[in-house]
Amino acid sequence: MATNKVIMAKTILVTGSNGQLGKSLRTLAENDDKNHWVFSSRQDLDITNKGSIDAAFAKHLPTHCINCAAFTNVRLAEKQPENATAINVDGVAKLISACQEHSTSLVHLSTDYVFDGQKGNPYTEEDKVNPLNVYGKTKAASEALVLEQGLKGYVVRTSWVYAENHGQNFYRSILAKARAGESLRVVNDQTGTPTSTVELAHYLRRLIQQGPPFGVYHFAGNKIQTWFSFAKDILAEHKLNVELTPIATPKEGLKRPSFSPLISIKPLNNEL
Ligand SMILES: NC(=O)c1ccc[n+]([C@@H]2O[C@H](COP(=O)([O-])OP(=O)(O)OC[C@H]3O[C@@H](n4cnc5c(N)ncnc54)[C@H](OP(=O)(O)O)[C@@H]3O)[C@@H](O)[C@H]2O)c1
Repeated sequence: MATNKVIMAKTILVTGSNGQLGKSLRTLAENDDKNHWVFSSRQDLDITNKGSIDAAFAKHLPTHCINCAAFTNVRLAEKQPENATAINVDGVAKLISACQEHSTSLVHLSTDYVFDGQKGNPYTEEDKVNPLNVYGKTKAASEALVLEQGLKGYVVRTSWVYAENHGQNFYRSILAKARAGESLRVVNDQTGTPTSTVELAHYLRRLIQQGPPFGVYHFAGNKIQTWFSFAKDILAEHKLNVELTPIATPKEGLKRPSFSPLISIKPLNNEL
């Protein structure tokens, strides 16, 4: 007997859409005819403002929400912990309420900075968090909120995020300085997994399409390297030849994990 299978289109609401990841999701969405995407910048949807969240959810009725909105300036977070908490924790709590009310799946972005860097091996989804700085603490607190029982929630941890074509990030700042002929001094005692926003955007779409069990997922680039070796790769990729010197992390008082590469023991199917 023939069955009439109705495939419901997904409506994916992206918060913080003017950020690095938001912009790459927008580019991906331009060629995605399977899903309906809605992009909300801070002006359209402020996650610290319940009224603004409620209005967006009532208007768009999202089946999924990818939360790219965050206070991401790690240094500034030390000086403005209240602001960082208002966005990264209280704002996420408000978003969670709207998701619960509308039965929306939340995909919340988090960071390698929830770890202390002492493990000595790459971190998996099963490792315990122990953040060292204000930014990491706010993100760890937001993870705990998302993972509370009953919420249709994913926490996607990623690290050292960069967009090649937009935003302020390490990749673009190295490129700009090298093109200006500046010599570079780059720290060689912090190790991580640089992650392209384009690859991360594709991963997030796969996650939503495949709908694995809710919980924590890691997605990061597959090369484990220091900022110095990442800079070296960027210069080689663009055939730029400027002086590049490895240095130690300056003692500025801000604690960062010295070794925080991410790997996943819960890989998704690579096909959409
Ligand atoms: N960048 C990294 O290296 C990195 C590493 C690991 C994890 N992550 C996580 O990945 C996610 C995306 O990062 P990203 O690099 O795309 O960050 P980003 O470029 O800093 O973008 C964050 C966006 O959030 C917006 N925003 C700030 N407060 C808001 C509010 N109250 N309501 C709505 N929007 C608000 C910002 O708007 P304004 O421009 O107006 O401030 C900005 O457009 C974040 O959760 C971040 O913690 C990032």
